Amino acid sequence: MPAPGIRVLPRPTGPGRTPQSNRASHLFPRSGTPGPIMAETSSLNIPTVDLADLASDDSARVERAAAAIREAFGVFGLVYLKNHGVDTQALNRFYDAFAAFIARPAEEKKPYGRADIWYQRGWTPPNTEVAVASNGQPDFKECYFVAPYPNDAQSALEFPELYPENVWPQNAPPYFEDGIMTLGRSLHEAGLKLLRGSAVALGLPETLFTDLCDRAAHVTRALQYLPLTNTQVNTDIVWGEEHTDFNLLTLLPGGRFLDPDGSPAPGPDNKSGLYLRTRATPEAPNGLKVRGTAPAGCIVAQVGQQLEILTGGTFLATPHVITAPGVPGWQRQSAAHFMHVHTNTVLFPLEKFRSADAVRNYAPPVLAGTYDIKTLVDIGLAPASALDKLGYRHYDRLNRQRAGT
Ligand SMILES: [Fe+2]
Repeated sequence: MPAPGIRVLPRPTGPGRTPQSNRASHLFPRSGTPGPIMAETSSLNIPTVDLADLASDDSARVERAAAAIREAFGVFGLVYLKNHGVDTQALNRFYDAFAAFIARPAEEKKPYGRADIWYQRGWTPPNTEVAVASNGQPDFKECYFVAPYPNDAQSALEFPELYPENVWPQNAPPYFEDGIMTLGRSLHEAGLKLLRGSAVALGLPETLFTDLCDRAAHVTRALQYLPLTNTQVNTDIVWGEEHTDFNLLTLLPGGRFLDPDGSPAPGPDNKSGLYLRTRATPEAPNGLKVRGTAPAGCIVAQVGQQLEILTGGTFLATPHVITAPGVPGWQRQSAAHFMHVHTNTVLFPLEKFRSADAVRNYAPPVLAGTYDIKTLVDIGLAPASALDKLGYRHYDRLNRQRAGT
């Protein structure tokens, strides 16, 4: 990885637009590089929401959960969830299957790396996805994308690369397909509950967000962060550059480390893992760097850019980074389910949040599918030519007509 000149962009102190991508700039000082001092703490009290509270008939329990969501998403952009319905044993079984796939030779995995569908299904090779403001440095990871539910036919006609059919490896390791599909659906169900709770927390109709999610291009992704060599550890290399997710809501079931022999093991040090950046305050204009490790038995949910835009910045997309360990040879496996609003949704603050500031920060209104295409180009998954789809594509007809051909 080239040593990037550290570029620290101040985070807006009020609701403001994050870059129109799922990658932000280097906001955290990286090891070995200068940067502003930012408090690092794992003691901040990120709220936990019990999804059983949200489903209860007891208004006090519902209000307790709603208050926790307001604080969690308003301040941290992240919440811990309990009673989420994700089966940890099944998750580990899937991680075993995924590790077996990733261990295959690159040549064998190549047919599943589908640039033609912008890597929205199948294998993402290493050195493919890049952080927008990372000097072009790709992340150190391999991934696999699937859609846990069948595609909506009309949406697939409108945005074919966002709704391709799933791609499955030949002779997939046992439990590969079932494992990721089961995981994706469990996370999606938990996400729907949280989105209903989020709408209630904001005084909106309960199904407002979940209605926008109907038939959308939701994707579940398995990730494996790759081992660093002796010369790469303790440099400025991170496993995943700091960024904000471009979707509505991200569900993270928790990951695990693999030791240099490829066996699951507790982390090699306390250096690596998920860190998030809190909202800026006058006292901490760069925000606080907080470890995003969920309490035992909980999963994590994060605000994405679409939820930030719809709420006019009331909920803020969470900048997060995956730091690498200080020892060579270790890998990390994780998974994420990305819930999106439907591609035909207009991304703009909902009426309730349409203050002059919010309008200024989030104008112009843009179609979610268009926004997705732009972002996928920004992060290197779609080719720049994909942007040509966004304008009129038939100018040549007039030229041909004039030429009489
Ligand atoms: Fe992310």
